[in-house]
Amino acid sequence: MKPKNQGSMKDPDGFGTVGNPRCGDIMTVYIKVKKIKNKEIISDIKFETLGCAAAIATSSMVTEMAKGKSLDDAFQITRQDVADKLEGLPPMKMHCSNLAEGALKRAIEDYRSKVGAKGKAPEKTKEKNPPHRRTRK
Ligand code: FES
Repeated sequence: MKPKNQGSMKDPDGFGTVGNPRCGDIMTVYIKVKKIKNKEIISDIKFETLGCAAAIATSSMVTEMAKGKSLDDAFQITRQDVADKLEGLPPMKMHCSNLAEGALKRAIEDYRSKVGAKGKAPEKTKEKNPPHRRTRK
């Protein structure tokens, strides 16, 4: 297995983290967004997943599916779309694809919350890293 788009991202425009309460696995998606012809496009995307092989495979696939898509189109990607693109997941592993869908949607929502209703460029905030990556002092 060679996951694509794995790793963190410096100064993402949005990020989202979700955890799976059944197994404790966790996934973060980072996105960079560019406006091209008045559409907001996911120009770069990365993920970090602490989880099972299915969680990593679905994380990799959702980033491949979302890259280059508009935010609206990427937001429509479902866990079933991800599983179908992987040519199916065993039923007991279907819940693993929830992480991929959920983290992507949260990253898009995070970007939109920073941009606001007027569509301004996102402000660079002090919070550059998701909560689980911060170090304690
Ligand atoms: Fe936890 Fe797959 S078993 S996400």
